[in-house]
Amino acid sequence: MRTQVGIIGAGPAGLLLAQMLHQRGIDAVVLEARSRDHIEGRIRAGLLEQGSVDTLTQAGVAHRLHREGLVHRGLELRFGGVGHRIDLAGLTGGKVVTIYGQQEAVKDMVAARLAAGLPLLFDVADAAIHDIDTNRPRITFRHDGRDQVLDCDIIAGCDGFHGVCRPSIPPADLRIFDRVYPFAWLGILARSPPMSEELIYARHADGFALATMRSHSISRLYLQCAPEEDLAQWSDDRIWAALRTRLGASGGELQEGPVLQKGVTAMRSFVVEPMRHGRLFLAGDAAHIVPPTGAKGMNLAIADVRVLVRALEAFFAGEGGDLMDAYSATCLDRIWKVQRFSWWMTQLLHRYDGEDAFEHRVRLAELDYLAGSVAARTALAENYVGLPYAD
Ligand code: FAD
Ligand code: DHB
Repeated sequence: MRTQVGIIGAGPAGLLLAQMLHQRGIDAVVLEARSRDHIEGRIRAGLLEQGSVDTLTQAGVAHRLHREGLVHRGLELRFGGVGHRIDLAGLTGGKVVTIYGQQEAVKDMVAARLAAGLPLLFDVADAAIHDIDTNRPRITFRHDGRDQVLDCDIIAGCDGFHGVCRPSIPPADLRIFDRVYPFAWLGILARSPPMSEELIYARHADGFALATMRSHSISRLYLQCAPEEDLAQWSDDRIWAALRTRLGASGGELQEGPVLQKGVTAMRSFVVEPMRHGRLFLAGDAAHIVPPTGAKGMNLAIADVRVLVRALEAFFAGEGGDLMDAYSATCLDRIWKVQRFSWWMTQLLHRYDGEDAFEHRVRLAELDYLAGSVAARTALAENYVGLPYAD
């Protein structure tokens, strides 16, 4: 088999890349390790920046997103038992964010690709990349019980944090920046109406909590917990009680309902530099991870893909490799700003066991400053809705 761009991974990065390349007449084959059911059912991100919505719209895969997505013009920060609204739209000249489950965006892109009869292989085993230092890189893999080879011009490593592409680059050629946080998030999906029309990020002495949603009848709720937290210790009753306390929810504000899904997410900041080695380009979680507090992971994956598509378009049009050479630096410029924001939101809102009294007071002062300063709230808002793209 031969293609122009071999894409490993059918998450948001790989699927969007394939779709945008198709729009530009560039062939791609997408290889995914898991089943279609698995990737369409994997509950993860839910918040899209304005630019991500615009990108999915231009890619022609946002019809349902525009019908079903929930547009948010603000959010609430709660601390010291008091709520403070951040008027995202008012502080950013009208920009908004949209709630739409990542797995819904994945379903839309899978459907578009299969309807167009374009290659997307599920349940691929043992994918391995070869000859990335040459002009003819290859992917070997097993599918339908047969060993296969995909000859490519370019390989896109969109295989997430635990994929095979990043580890295929010689370690001496990579620089890794890594920070693991001393806490995690316990997340639930529940059949209950959202606590409020807008998201609530709460800082409480017991730890952080976040109330978000997927629809008018489905809530998504998160609690700070220990990284090695045992889910078996968290009955539904205990989860609801902790949410009520940390969110400062009065009487009927937080309505309980059946818990549909429960999971623990580790928190990490991670960046690899550069994001390219020869003919291999990394995009999305394969190259970087942010803690979820600022809701940036999927949005960053989409931003990388925009840059990669432009570079590949120029390359296949015979305009040379300048944009491919600039790919890593262009992406990293945004990635580090987003890393900073995600780290900042995380350290501001979480409880640090063993933090000293000075750090604690500084954190409280920063929250107080945010509550009282339009300049501080504007800085939060412009990062939250998404920094402008370079192009
Ligand atoms: P992935 O979605 O991880 O996709 C990689 C794909 O590659 C997977 O389908 C995987 O099966 C496949 N793969 C891996 N290895 C191989 C292999 N060897 N061969 C073939 N295929 C392979 N981000 C936001 O923007 N907003 C949010 O609100 C948000 N909330 C989050 C909440 C939670 C609980 C979590 C866990 C994450 C959240 N994120 C959020 C982050 C977001 O989900 C990720 O950043 C996003 O999935 C990255 O997309 P990706 O395509 O790069 O990687
Ligand atoms: C969601 C997740 C986040 O990490 C966040 O900051 C906001 C929203 C969500 O799952 O909806």
